Amino acid sequence: MNPINVGLLGLGTVGGGTLTVLRRNAKEITRRAGRDIVVKMAAVRDLEKARKIAGSELEIVTDPFAVVNNPDIDIVVELIGGYTLAKDLVLKAIANGKHVVTANKALLAVHGNEIFQAAQAKGVMVAFEAAVAGGIPIIKALREGLTANRIEWIAGIINGTTNFILTEMRDKGLAFDTVLAEAQRLGYAEADPTFDVEGIDAAHKLTIMAAIGFGIPMQFDKAYTEGISKLTKEDITYAEQLGYRIKLLGITKRTDKGIELRVHPTLIPAKRLIANVEGVMNAVLVKGDAVGATMYYGRGAGAEPTASAVVADLVDVTRMLTSDPEHRVPHLAFQPDALSDAPILPIEEVRTSYYLRLKAFDKPGVLADVTRILADLGISIDAMIQKEPSEGEEQADVILLTHETVEKFINQAIAKIEALSSISGKVIRIRLEELNSN
Ligand code: NAP
Ligand code: HSE
Repeated sequence: MNPINVGLLGLGTVGGGTLTVLRRNAKEITRRAGRDIVVKMAAVRDLEKARKIAGSELEIVTDPFAVVNNPDIDIVVELIGGYTLAKDLVLKAIANGKHVVTANKALLAVHGNEIFQAAQAKGVMVAFEAAVAGGIPIIKALREGLTANRIEWIAGIINGTTNFILTEMRDKGLAFDTVLAEAQRLGYAEADPTFDVEGIDAAHKLTIMAAIGFGIPMQFDKAYTEGISKLTKEDITYAEQLGYRIKLLGITKRTDKGIELRVHPTLIPAKRLIANVEGVMNAVLVKGDAVGATMYYGRGAGAEPTASAVVADLVDVTRMLTSDPEHRVPHLAFQPDALSDAPILPIEEVRTSYYLRLKAFDKPGVLADVTRILADLGISIDAMIQKEPSEGEEQADVILLTHETVEKFINQAIAKIEALSSISGKVIRIRLEELNSN
């Protein structure tokens, strides 16, 4: 059988890793795919750098449209990143009748609806396993392995860079900037690392998982996104003292009112498996009504772990090439005419528990005022600790854990607490999830 010809757009961290894995495991991959998968052409900006990676036998160009317009290319692999050029290239490849593999979560979260519509109309596949959680086959699990289930919620550590930063800061006491620079050197971070640090990358991935978990369109613009840049060492320490660990979680939940879609630092019980996911590792918990809670763990970033997912997509697309488009797995796991219009809930309507830290003057009645405010809003307290004031200070840290409530009530409570004359400064609020599997 003729080989499948692949055109790589980009030979950076993931593109380079993909070429390496395809070459090293060529025989094994052919045994699985039923035919050879060969990289025929690649596009980059820096030819000299690319030749050092790819050697002389690969055709390398600086015009990526030369790849997508080449009639000999069967599958285009987009590994350039970003929204604009990547979108034009992917849409052109689709228009040319080529199948597409991409690791670009930003592109899919923002323009996925348009891209999948175009692919559907043209009868081509767009595969994106590498776009979420690097080497973990979570897309395969959600779209196929869990297809019997009504998915109830998904919660994941889906950004390797921030998990790496949080781990190194906690374990080695390293400064934020030092660890971020190391993550960049190792190829984990996005081209713009604020995407990692501010939770945007995680929100891209969460948007994709919510779409295929619940059968809804991509709605990145409605995701609530909060990163780790404001997280303090005190809160990490207090959380540990209370039996919790802080992780940047992406959480999407089906509720009676709509779908929660949120990324933020989250306290999770230290005894949960996911609380112990460290470094660049990612983990995704998926709760299905039939299967219960399942967890997927592995490397969420880096050259070869991500290439593992890209190559898996290449094999999948190769196997499905001759199949009738109507009988392939739908892009978003659900039939395109059966997508749900369940609304994405604004963050004010989200239901969760909270960690609150306030600075209170150490005098009688202060805590009574705070607990009264919470009680009046129907918020019940789960735990409370008061720290000794530091030497020379008049105020003490008070930490409260609440039971579940709706975010708008906690907002009202925080405003009232901050207005008390016995409280100084802003109340720190971090959301808390028990992640119970039942
Ligand atoms: P990268 O290392 O920066 O590589 C980007 C590649 O695209 C480089 O080879 C670059 O060429 C090429 N490129 C950029 N602009 C180009 C243009 N105008 N024309 C031709 N080539 C161009 O990026 P990466 O880390 O591999 O990420 C690629 C994609 O994978 C992104 O969407 C990213 O979000 C996603 N992803 C990355 C990881 C990871 O661990 N890094 C994991 C999962 C998903 P030059 O080298 O010549 O500049
Ligand atoms: N910047 C991303 C991360 C790469 O750190 O997880 C993988 O998507």
